[in-house]
Amino acid sequence: MLNNAPTPSPDTDALRKSYDELPYDNLPRYTTHPDCLATAARLRGLEVPSVATARVLELGCSTGVNLIALAVAIPGGRYTGIDLSTAHIDSAVSLAKTLGLEQVNFAAADLRSLAGTLGEFDYIVCHGVYSHVPADVQEAILSICAHSLAPNGVACISYNTYPGWYLRGMIRDLLRWHVRDTPELAQQVARAREFMQVLARQAQPPGGWYAGALGDEARILADSLDSYIAHEHLDPVNEPLYLIEFVARARQHGLEYLGEALPEPQLCDLPGDLGAALAGLADDPLAQGQYLDCFLGRAFHRTLLCRADAAPRERTPLETVQSLLARARATPVSEQPRVREIVVENFRTADGYAASSTDPLIKAMLVALRRRAPGMLSFAALQNEVREMLAGAWPACYREDDPVPLAEALLRLHRGSLLSLHTLDIAFATEAGTTPRASPLAREQARTGARVTSLRHDTIELDATQRELLCLLDGTQDRRELLARCPWLSAELLEKTLGHMARHALLKQ
Ligand SMILES: C[S@@+](CC[C@H](N)C(=O)[O-])C[C@H]1O[C@@H](n2cnc3c(N)ncnc32)[C@H](O)[C@@H]1O
Repeated sequence: MLNNAPTPSPDTDALRKSYDELPYDNLPRYTTHPDCLATAARLRGLEVPSVATARVLELGCSTGVNLIALAVAIPGGRYTGIDLSTAHIDSAVSLAKTLGLEQVNFAAADLRSLAGTLGEFDYIVCHGVYSHVPADVQEAILSICAHSLAPNGVACISYNTYPGWYLRGMIRDLLRWHVRDTPELAQQVARAREFMQVLARQAQPPGGWYAGALGDEARILADSLDSYIAHEHLDPVNEPLYLIEFVARARQHGLEYLGEALPEPQLCDLPGDLGAALAGLADDPLAQGQYLDCFLGRAFHRTLLCRADAAPRERTPLETVQSLLARARATPVSEQPRVREIVVENFRTADGYAASSTDPLIKAMLVALRRRAPGMLSFAALQNEVREMLAGAWPACYREDDPVPLAEALLRLHRGSLLSLHTLDIAFATEAGTTPRASPLAREQARTGARVTSLRHDTIELDATQRELLCLLDGTQDRRELLARCPWLSAELLEKTLGHMARHALLKQ
């Protein structure tokens, strides 16, 4: 409707100019963290390289904060970031230099010129790039992965996908058409924001499917950064594709589909009889994944690839979890959950996942992890905690010395986002010591903005008090000195704020 000519493939200069004009705010994402990739790959039977000493490559790293956050939290790794925009790379190099990080390198280069030149990496990440670059750059991304992935390495490439992107793509068309005569990108974003709100308010009939779709997108855009709107909705290239198409392209490069970075539901986890419906439609995991996209209307994938010769091997649930660590996500709703009796207890996570259970094993496991939070428990330690909690009240349906039900429950709760599994326990202070020391990256970020990155790779929003305090936490000042420098803080509020920072992994050990 809006373009009857095919989208011209913009040259590199046009893309570079668009990023130089409005740099992309690079927010660290746990879904690109080597621990997330390593855990997902191990759960699929691949013996991945250790995250503590991993060589990590990020393609299209923009301002490099994702890699810099990794270098701060996991100093034993080696990190390399490539981006087309010199403005992005200058900013990345300057931040790494300010923080004195020697284990991270950045280079401004076009990915098309690099295949075969970069050396070997254990983890390769390419987030938010593949759908926004022309076909020859897409080919270069897969080619670099094929050339540079270590034998048991893992690549994670994210991309916009159909069928979900048909709906979002329609909205992108409307926004691009609305700003067609606006010359500057920043103004285009402002006009696109306004138009999106008008569209959502006036779409007819109110409450119909069309108004619903526009309303959903209006909410996403209201919470999005300008740079996201510019490069997702207004840049000339955005080429979503189906999961099966992406995997077919990867296979042409000798890469194999391993799954998704985030835990994927198994057939038994799906609501109603969707699992049975899926099983009736396909039995190989890739086709099932594609059918699942059809049912869920997914618009985005973070697909993991390994070398075709890497050969993951089937494992039992027990073998799978024995080498992993678990961390709480859910909290019991009741202050004193009755773990040992067969009564219902409810658990909720801060981001809206919930579970109810009468099963003492499940309840004991979730309570034990919560007690240990924000720390982690190994499988053996969790098993001991659960045994202690259930001593004399072991449920009749399980044998006390059988670890398999615990392993199976752990995997199920991980898939349900009620706990998280990890390969590495990242060091951070769980309590503010005598002279608290914040992550140097978070301190630097707090000087200029309210968003900081935790040592666990989360983005944390700080209020003005928290920001000012965080900037002072260089590990040299005790509470008396901190209070003297922050006269607006009471001793009680200081303790509360430090506790909040410790819980959110902002303090170094
Ligand atoms: C939408 S941004 C995503 C940045 C980052 N990965 C993130 O998620 O925050 C896409 C990035 O890809 C980079 N890029 C685009 N084409 C490229 C090319 N041919 N070679 C290297 N980088 C490229 C852009 O400069 C930009 O930083």
